[in-house]
Amino acid sequence: MPITCHPIPKAPESEVDFGVEVRGLDLENLSETDFKSLRTILYTHQVVVIKNQQSLTPAAQYTLTRRFDPSAGVYSHGTSISNKSILHRDLTTIPSQPQVQVIGHGHVPSYEGLTNLNLQHPHHRTFHKHPIPESLDRDFTHFYRWHIDSAMYDLDPPLVTSLLAVTLPPKRHQTVLYSDDPTTTSPSLRVPLGTTAFISGSNMLSLLTPEEQSFILTSKIEYAAHPYIWLRNARSRSTGLGIITESLELPLSSLPPISPDKIKTYPMVWKNPVTRTLAMMVYPTCARRIHLADGSVIDDLAEVRETLYKLQRRAIEPQLVYPHDWEEGDLVLFNNHGVMHSIVGSFGEGEVRLFRQCNMAGSRGPLGPEDPVPVEGN
Ligand SMILES: [Fe+2]
Repeated sequence: MPITCHPIPKAPESEVDFGVEVRGLDLENLSETDFKSLRTILYTHQVVVIKNQQSLTPAAQYTLTRRFDPSAGVYSHGTSISNKSILHRDLTTIPSQPQVQVIGHGHVPSYEGLTNLNLQHPHHRTFHKHPIPESLDRDFTHFYRWHIDSAMYDLDPPLVTSLLAVTLPPKRHQTVLYSDDPTTTSPSLRVPLGTTAFISGSNMLSLLTPEEQSFILTSKIEYAAHPYIWLRNARSRSTGLGIITESLELPLSSLPPISPDKIKTYPMVWKNPVTRTLAMMVYPTCARRIHLADGSVIDDLAEVRETLYKLQRRAIEPQLVYPHDWEEGDLVLFNNHGVMHSIVGSFGEGEVRLFRQCNMAGSRGPLGPEDPVPVEGN
């Protein structure tokens, strides 16, 4: 069967210019030629949807995901996640395939060697400063956290992530509110329950003024050491796009030992290895400092966050967000160096959802605007 590309459903008002459905792939027996086609499609469209993959094994999901970065090995957050990390409660490792995690919501008696799972879909009330009131929680929600899959300390961000929808609850919709006040008329976005929302880093870059583009093209962003422990007491903005500065971050003395050589400082603009397109890729939640071209450093945390928020906020306007409408068997692959994404939604009692996520820490850091594309092409 030939490989074909098809548009993914979008709302009439959507201005999203990425994402594609691909048909005609046998993922358990993918030839090198077909994989190369898939890779080109992925880097061209950023988000790829492959339907009806219910029978894909965790091993096959791992093998496929790893083909995008054959030198990668460990899971994106390493071999173990500290119980002090805010990620600890969200991820359950599949015993036979430690690069594949089970995520979801509700009680699952057994799955892939795991038994009696009680999964918790990350709910914004555990992370946001102003959660939706309990009485409105069924119908309204917030973007949980816009992010790049990444440890942002020691390990580099995965090149590609795969997500497989194994089990979904009956379909219903929620409205994502952008404001912390549900009574105001700020932007909102109607989404399927438990959508994964994506935005384009290229689009984020294109929305900036020439002066802003020049600033981010020449600046670098330094991420905090052990960021997910550091920020465990801090609280997010209601847009899910970064943290409200209240000095709630843990002091460095309370963190595990810090190795300066493991601190990540990345360009703010990353290059697509196939199309050479540039994208603004900054993970505001974990950001600590901005290093400017002239050698000066913005060290003040509030100023770092305000600077990033001004640059990034316009890219999450409702018409620029792609909220994937999951169906059981959907496998979504995305360019983790080209799009940002967010968990969304608040599940009710009895709404059981089971997903598998796979990614591995990148075998290289992101490509900056001036970096050559590696010979092997990844
Ligand atoms: Fe993620």
